[in-house]
Amino acid sequence: MINYENIANTLATDGVIILPDFLPSKLTEQLYQYISNIPADQFSQAGIGRNNNVQINHEIRNDVTLWLNGKSPCERTYLMAMNELRHQLNEKLFLGLFDYESHYSHYKMGSYYQRHVDAFEGRSNRVITTVFYLNHDWSENDGGELVIYKHNSKEVLHRISPTFGTLAIFLSEKFPHEVLTANRDRYSIAGWFRIDRPF
Ligand code: OGA
Ligand code: MN
Repeated sequence: MINYENIANTLATDGVIILPDFLPSKLTEQLYQYISNIPADQFSQAGIGRNNNVQINHEIRNDVTLWLNGKSPCERTYLMAMNELRHQLNEKLFLGLFDYESHYSHYKMGSYYQRHVDAFEGRSNRVITTVFYLNHDWSENDGGELVIYKHNSKEVLHRISPTFGTLAIFLSEKFPHEVLTANRDRYSIAGWFRIDRPF
């Protein structure tokens, strides 16, 4: 059972929560099978920036991504779960989150994403970031951890192994983070709950 009360309270106090085994493992496995079997040519080099200003900068990140489009049943179930989370957060924290956008990420061996924030204060409608991990038997030698830093600081708050079933949730504007170099294929679904505001 998902403890929405705990998620909302922890986000309100800490701004970050890490949840192992967030979804039923059967669904997580279906998502893993689905993404790892999508032909490589359907993925794009990940961009940075927003809207018309997306740039490809291999120095900052070199994973490849693919937006979810709800065409497969497991994807639709995943999006329904995130929609429920969105409703629960709105109900408990009055956030006014109006939608969720998400993409698969594939970090091949040697891929990384340097320290960044997902949203600049007051300049984005991304409010809450989610990253859901799909990798079996991830060990320390595999690298690829998500490192989350304290706001405006070099102090490390969390080092998260991209382990099958783990969901990381954090406030998009507050926490700089990076993906350390992965030493094997690393699959995840990154997503953002957004508010509807002009900027
Ligand atoms: C991102 C991101 C983290 C991860 O896509 O913006 O920071 O662990 N992803 O995949
Ligand atoms: Mn990010």
